[in-house]
Amino acid sequence: MKKVTKAVIPAAGLGTRFFPATKTIPKEMLPIVDKPTILYVIEEAVQAGIEDIVLIQGRGKTAIEDFFDISYELEDKLIKDGKGHLIDEINKIRNSVNIISIRQKSPLGLGHAVKCAATVTGSDPFAVLLGDEITIPSGPEKNITKFLTERSIESGASSVWVLPVAQADTHRYGIVDLKDKSIKDLSGGKKVFGVVEKPNAEMAPSFWALPGRYVFTSDIINHLNQISPGVNGEYQLSDAMNRLAQVDELNAYSFNARRFDAGDKLGFLLANIEVALDRDDLREGILNYIRGKCKDAL
Ligand code: UTP
Repeated sequence: MKKVTKAVIPAAGLGTRFFPATKTIPKEMLPIVDKPTILYVIEEAVQAGIEDIVLIQGRGKTAIEDFFDISYELEDKLIKDGKGHLIDEINKIRNSVNIISIRQKSPLGLGHAVKCAATVTGSDPFAVLLGDEITIPSGPEKNITKFLTERSIESGASSVWVLPVAQADTHRYGIVDLKDKSIKDLSGGKKVFGVVEKPNAEMAPSFWALPGRYVFTSDIINHLNQISPGVNGEYQLSDAMNRLAQVDELNAYSFNARRFDAGDKLGFLLANIEVALDRDDLREGILNYIRGKCKDAL
């Protein structure tokens, strides 16, 4: 497979779990410390060598697109105040990637959102990064999108990230069928035979869940064109992956990364704590606060 230079970031969901904040603010723009969630996702894509990002947006989501424009007044003031370095990080991203915005006219599901990018992805392989799932790299080689693109280039096939989850949590994810429930290590990759969206523990074909990072050959679009609405009445990416896995090679890999579902309240709060603990200006303050709270609780 040739180099993967395109990525799709679906960000058109309604964000019901963050109501009422999401009445006017896209959940992908809620800040993790001081950066919007989606900027972590875009940084991951850029560091993985992605050159064209297709942002799938919906009604009320224009703040995401606006974020990448120049804010003349604010940026001019920062430069005059000697704080121009704060703009450098944004400029690095702005200048190193094309952002192509596509409207999903109605939030019909993740599968439908990915399909909206087909005019841009064409016959090329592409990565998919969910706009509300963030990973916090602990080193330059700890980039899951880069890892998956490398695996796909080697195999010529689609590659997806999987995480082991507790039995009680299978109903929150797409779960892969590996034909062997006892598999404990997927770091070298294993062929996927099927995918089931949000099964309960009894119906789950394994305990390996899809947390939101994928690299697909363009074949996935043909399968997205064939599916009908599934769980929750939505066009599910899992259903298209299930079809793909039955006729083509789809490999699942485990990968050690700090990952947070920032579209979920607890995941969002934990991501904020994790990022703050990485920061020299916040670490002590957070630790002191947590130590105090732990003492109160004892
Ligand atoms: P989620 O299922 O987490 O998003 O989709 P949601 O529907 O907004 O979540 P709730 O309402 O809080 O449960 C994962 C990603 O896919 C995008 C979302 O924006 C999110 O980044 N998505 C989902 C779309 O782009 N379009 C859709 O129709 C559904």
